[in-house]
Amino acid sequence: MSSALAAHAVEKRYGPATALGGVDLHVEEGQLVGLLGPNGAGKSTLVKIACGLVRASAGRVEVCGAPAGSLEARRAIGYLAELFRFPGWYDADELLALHQRLTGSRGGERERDELLGLVGLTDARGRRIERMSKGMQQRLGIAQALVGSPRLLMLDEPTSALDPVGRRAVRELLEELRRRGTAVLLNSHLLSEVELVCDRVVILLGGRVVREGRPDELSRSGGVDVETGSGVRHFADARREDAPRIVAELVAAGESVYGVTVARSTLEDAYIEAVGAPPA
Ligand SMILES: Nc1ncnc2c1ncn2[C@@H]1O[C@H](COP(=O)(O)OP(=O)(O)OP(=O)(O)O)[C@@H](O)[C@H]1O
Ligand SMILES: [Mg+2]
Repeated sequence: MSSALAAHAVEKRYGPATALGGVDLHVEEGQLVGLLGPNGAGKSTLVKIACGLVRASAGRVEVCGAPAGSLEARRAIGYLAELFRFPGWYDADELLALHQRLTGSRGGERERDELLGLVGLTDARGRRIERMSKGMQQRLGIAQALVGSPRLLMLDEPTSALDPVGRRAVRELLEELRRRGTAVLLNSHLLSEVELVCDRVVILLGGRVVREGRPDELSRSGGVDVETGSGVRHFADARREDAPRIVAELVAAGESVYGVTVARSTLEDAYIEAVGAPPA
């Protein structure tokens, strides 16, 4: 079975500037992958190449086995750009109908109703886009990306304008899509969100992958703190499974133990560690 998205040694140069310096990235069917990295790292460039909007200088990108940009590849994707602008005079329902025509979806009113429901815009179906808040437009943008039930959904910072309730709703939507087997590449700066929802995380820096793995692999154990009668003792290299032994040894040595905390570094710590230093 081919990956939903497979990027091999992808390079992109803009004149003398290198936006991507040889990136490998895979999103398997039904997988939710978070693409992280500082401003200018190359995240949007990679997504645009996968959509066929930007041509790679070198390397190869395939979407569901078809070359990026081909009709077959474009049929398989749904995309929400980071800086999108829909015609203000359309209402929500008309915008989705337009995208149904563009993608050739035969879902009709039923699909539009379902998508508006999924993003919480049922009551705004007749509202013109120019009268919508930014967050509402972003939710409509997500619905637009889902028209035609794409196999690979690429969302470039889809929650940047959303309030906390809206963000949680999008998280739940992404989990639902995963259950349905849709693959998702999610660009985001919201690390806590990525940590909660993504199966894998890829961190780009200066156009290269600097870290990748499951969120819990990247956010490693940060040691064990034990509150004793003589103060808090920190065991920096210890992990959760070491806690009972540490407590037993302290008690055997005559210490009173009042509490044990297993510290975890967050994905944010791992991210800062990966991108904190300027690229060499
Ligand atoms: N059309 C273009 N012409 C020239 N340079 C470009 C163009 N598009 C992007 N770049 C450059 O390529 C690099 C990567 O940009 P890209 O938009 O992919 O970053 P990003 O990781 O998405 O950043 P952000 O988090 O700010 O969205 C940047 O240095 C940017 O200035
Ligand atoms: Mg970007």
